[in-house]
Amino acid sequence: MSDILQHLDAGVMTLTFNRVDKKNSITRDMYSALADGVEQANTDPAVRVVVIQGHETIFSAGNDIADFLHQPPSGQDSPVFRFLRAIATVDKPVVAAVAGPAVGIGTTLLFHCDLVYAGDNAAFSMPFVNLGLCPEAASSLLAPRMFGYHRAAEALLLGEPFFAEAALEVGLVNRVVPPTEVNAHAQAQAKKLAGKPLSSLIETKRLMKGGQQAEVLARMAEEGQSFGRMLREPAAREAFSAFMEKRKPDFSKV
Ligand code: COA
Repeated sequence: MSDILQHLDAGVMTLTFNRVDKKNSITRDMYSALADGVEQANTDPAVRVVVIQGHETIFSAGNDIADFLHQPPSGQDSPVFRFLRAIATVDKPVVAAVAGPAVGIGTTLLFHCDLVYAGDNAAFSMPFVNLGLCPEAASSLLAPRMFGYHRAAEALLLGEPFFAEAALEVGLVNRVVPPTEVNAHAQAQAKKLAGKPLSSLIETKRLMKGGQQAEVLARMAEEGQSFGRMLREPAAREAFSAFMEKRKPDFSKV
């Protein structure tokens, strides 16, 4: 069974994180499958809407930390950057269903979705600083814009989780529902979208998002440069080793 399930039904392409034993943490192969899915959705006339969902207990623990240690992404063509560019530029609507933890890219990918539904157990976090890293997915641009600077600074500098109601308040999610209902709710909303004229959906999304696309892509590239460098530096190496060894990181020497 693949770690990313891809399913097409009545115009809705659903991409499901399916690596629950590792908390849906995302490997290189999973980024490739996600990028392929979103790129295919964009060009396939049978697809009108994309849904990204996880499990009722976990959306995603973010990047696979063993991958960060052993095969960190290098260059703008690496699978993670390909996925981020795909989701930032897809013409068709993207709906996300989030329950449980959404860590790192599990949260930042949501800035690029059009509708986001959350279970009341959702916990969003962008703990890049705690890992010796910096923001990615243009979150350094989009979080301050959406949350306001001070709330974004709390999320990105302290890296502490925030929960479903706070995410609703800052506009990151559209609605909070019980975790067992979040995927079904997202599917129902996606089906509504799939019944509308695709040309109008695409044009409306383009008009809402088109103006900032170049800025978003430029910020992603800038973040990617720093992120790629910082992944190889001592602070991040210590954070990843500590996670793998199930101990607290010691940043006293970095
Ligand atoms: N990369 C690789 N493996 C991960 C992972 C990640 N990002 N997150 C969780 N796992 C693995 C754990 O190593 C563990 O594996 P094991 O059973 O072989 O020991 C398994 O998934 C279960 O994780 P665990 O931490 O025991 O689950 P939990 O329910 O106590 O906590 C999280 C869930 C998501 C809060 C916690 O796993 C976590 O904080 N993960 C790291 C998140 C992170 O920093 N991601 C990078 C963001 S840039």
